[in-house]
Amino acid sequence: MVARLIVISNRVAVPESASEASAGGLAVAVQAALSGREGIWFGWSGRVTEDPNPHPQTRRIGTTTYVVLDLAPGDFNEYYNGFANRVLWPILHYRLDLAEFNRSDLSGYQRVNNYFADNLSRILRPNDIVWVHDYHLMPLAKLLRERGHENRIGYFLHVPCPPPDILTALPKHREIVGSLVAFDLIGLQTENDCENLSRYLLRQGARRAPDAFNLEVNGRKVKLGAFPVGIETLKFERTARRAAATTLIKETAESLSGRAMVMSVDRLDYSKGLPNRMDAIERFLTLYPEWRGRVTFLQIAPKSRSEIQEYMEIDRQVSTLAGQINGRHGDVTWTPIRYVNRVYSRAALAGLYRLARVGLVTPLRDGMNLVAKEYVAAQDPENPGVLVLSQFAGAADELDGALIVNPHEPEAVAAAIRFGLEMPLEARQARYERMISVLRKNDINSWAERFLAALQSPDCEEDVPPASLPSSAAKVAG
Ligand code: ADP
Ligand code: F6P
Repeated sequence: MVARLIVISNRVAVPESASEASAGGLAVAVQAALSGREGIWFGWSGRVTEDPNPHPQTRRIGTTTYVVLDLAPGDFNEYYNGFANRVLWPILHYRLDLAEFNRSDLSGYQRVNNYFADNLSRILRPNDIVWVHDYHLMPLAKLLRERGHENRIGYFLHVPCPPPDILTALPKHREIVGSLVAFDLIGLQTENDCENLSRYLLRQGARRAPDAFNLEVNGRKVKLGAFPVGIETLKFERTARRAAATTLIKETAESLSGRAMVMSVDRLDYSKGLPNRMDAIERFLTLYPEWRGRVTFLQIAPKSRSEIQEYMEIDRQVSTLAGQINGRHGDVTWTPIRYVNRVYSRAALAGLYRLARVGLVTPLRDGMNLVAKEYVAAQDPENPGVLVLSQFAGAADELDGALIVNPHEPEAVAAAIRFGLEMPLEARQARYERMISVLRKNDINSWAERFLAALQSPDCEEDVPPASLPSSAAKVAG
């Protein structure tokens, strides 16, 4: 029987039809992994109901079967809002100061992971390949092993992995992060993330077998590798080309009245560094007055995780800052910042990216940041814009044609914005060419293929393909 691919993630994007693509990084990545093969996408339906049906709802579209579970309000609060997003998310983004630990959230996290494991247990066949995604589901392989499943199970962490000193500040970290050793392969976004997790696991008693990214724990082998997630590069390039002719893009271009546009797109999340960015924009307007009235900053920031206190706070803070900057620097004919919280179609985003002379992507910490990659893919090769990118985004490892900045240094970000706006065509093209060739090579399909090839290699012992072999392995091992 052909091996099925079972993908598990917190959210499952069930499309209305097989041809409809879902927005969002993880959703696009999972769709690429499942395309053209027999598979199941398992996870939370996104619905919260008082008395959820304990059995999953199933729907088959094309070769994928979507199997989803609803959550009860208590589970949603403790597992998703609580432990996943008020404890793991801040810690994994190096924000120990924002982590709010309590035991009931931890037990909610474990309860939902057990609920997933029980339901998966009923549908798993011995030769299924299992691929678990993200920080919501760290203990899942351990729970499946406890239920007797010896399948090949891989894990991909979409967010950053901080150094051991931060990971060990997580209460019960051995039960959560330590349980990752039940996977056969752990994929991370960057070499730095691999190094951090490897050092943590070695400190917890794992042995090197034979190097720092092949570990052994209680006779079980686990392999770590960097698999930087990509985008649907060619499709996005095409979408951006076509979007130029749409009404939205034409009207937006017209509304700029010849001004240059600098654009940012982020979920409204404290990890994205929006207040720091507002500060940098203000410095730009103050330090380079010749640009006043000649540039428009577009910040698209859809609301996210709005029931969580820290997210309500960042929402309030950013809208206040944007309003203050507009009040201080704008006049009746020009507003420096256009700030919108709407969700846009892929085509609209692609067209807007292409209009922007500078893509301003300055998270304080980000696993990858797909917006940076989408911005580059959307550019017109004849007249490309310039990407200003935080050194703390995973994407900075690959996108060396960007102007790399420290988001904590507003004057440097302001200078990079100006440098980008004033960069001659030839320099812009050279930078764009370097980046687009990387994005075409490591697109979303090659990412999924590389991970699944490594997961299915005999005993998962074959080397992770060379592009992802951390150059720092020797340093860690030594
Ligand atoms: P994260 O996974 O933390 O949200 P990424 O930058 O890696 O950050 O991925 C965000 C994804 O969500 C990108 O594919 C981006 O295009 C999409 N996205 C972000 N904001 C919007 C929006 N306002 N409308 C539609 N899609 C959006
Ligand atoms: O990239 C991290 C991540 O949590 C993804 O898993 C998810 O697609 C995205 O951020 C949005 O988060 P949420 O599912 O909490 O809205």
